[in-house]
Amino acid sequence: MRVGVVGCGGISGSHLSGYANLSQTEIVAVSDINETALHKRADEFEVKGRYTNYQQMLDQEGLDLVSICTHAPLHMPIAVAAAKRGINVLSEKPLAVDLVQADRMFSACTRAGVHLAVSHQFRFTPIFRQVKQWVDDGRIGQLRSIREVGKGREAGFELMEMGVHYFDEIDFFLGGIEWVHAQISYQGHSATIEDIMHSSQLCQTDQRDNGTVTGDTMLVHVGGKNGTYGEIELYCRPERHGWMMGPHLLGSRGQMMVKPNAKTGIDEIWYCPFDVSFANQTPDWELVPFDEALFLIEGKAWPSRHTIWSIQNVVTAIREGQQPELSGKQALVSLECVSATYESHFTAARVNLPMTDRQHPLEKRQNTKIEKENGEQY
Ligand SMILES: NC(=O)c1ccc[n+]([C@@H]2O[C@H](COP(=O)([O-])OP(=O)(O)OC[C@H]3O[C@@H](n4cnc5c(N)ncnc54)[C@H](O)[C@@H]3O)[C@@H](O)[C@H]2O)c1
Repeated sequence: MRVGVVGCGGISGSHLSGYANLSQTEIVAVSDINETALHKRADEFEVKGRYTNYQQMLDQEGLDLVSICTHAPLHMPIAVAAAKRGINVLSEKPLAVDLVQADRMFSACTRAGVHLAVSHQFRFTPIFRQVKQWVDDGRIGQLRSIREVGKGREAGFELMEMGVHYFDEIDFFLGGIEWVHAQISYQGHSATIEDIMHSSQLCQTDQRDNGTVTGDTMLVHVGGKNGTYGEIELYCRPERHGWMMGPHLLGSRGQMMVKPNAKTGIDEIWYCPFDVSFANQTPDWELVPFDEALFLIEGKAWPSRHTIWSIQNVVTAIREGQQPELSGKQALVSLECVSATYESHFTAARVNLPMTDRQHPLEKRQNTKIEKENGEQY
């Protein structure tokens, strides 16, 4: 399978090392407008095809699959350009900046008969698969809820960076998301239209472009199948604890967590045989041993959250004529949840999925406000 990558920044290294280590894929070209970044990655993976214009790469390299590793606003135009040339797409998350763009990606790929998949790699890792199996087998009784906490960046930014991963994890464990209910605040008050801004203004320590966002703090409730719930808490803190990320699953007869070890960053599974945590009355949490052989792909061990896990699913599915697990309408779910989060806050109501109004919920409100102000002026 001939593969190309657009965007040679941080996450591209993970895509390229994944493709370089799968026997079914050959990296034939990479593209970046920044020549330094382009040649650095191309040299690292000994890639011959090097392009500063991704359209030329898509035209000339006869690709079967392209990974999109640019910031979110470019995911849509690159995916549509690839689809028009009959190339399957694996997009980095968030799939797009809003559902209008995501729908365009989806219909372009559907029309062209190619797959559009999004890279939420966590659900594909052996640890998540194992925990899901144990939960489905009733190891913590009946699953009631899942809690996720952000890394500590401003919530509106974090929602697009980590929140989309959390929505996907919750969707994975609950077997589907039916509704979202959220409350957002900014500098201590309930977020208003005045607090809507660009992601780079909200989060000055991470300049990745996540479009229009709002809020430094969020509490998001998610409704799953059969009366199960998810809860995502995103709030700022000076120390950005990456090790806090990962699901905390609460069941009727116990709890389970997947959290990266604070020192090594490697995921661990923790289990507690009691349904709530209450200081010294809670039994000890136990570290659950895990079969390390499950981390091997073609004889090589991979970190627990590496992109190779989602790449492997996409490549295998395409080769076997199947639909990748996070493609089709499923690719849109985590972004639907982002839109529903904002819509819920501004309407103070629960929002059912899929969203019927596809416009960006924040930009829609900004535009209405501008129209009203102009209307009053004239
Ligand atoms: N799945 C994950 O765990 C994970 C982790 C990190 C980042 N991401 C996502 O990956 C995406 C990229 O993030 P990053 O941290 O690698 O960003 P980055 O800023 O490090 O890299 C982006 C690259 O895209 C290039 N670029 C810009 N315009 C281009 C164009 N027209 N054509 C080709 N290249 C272009 C830039 O020059 C840059 O090198 C984001 O959407 C981010 O959310 C996902």
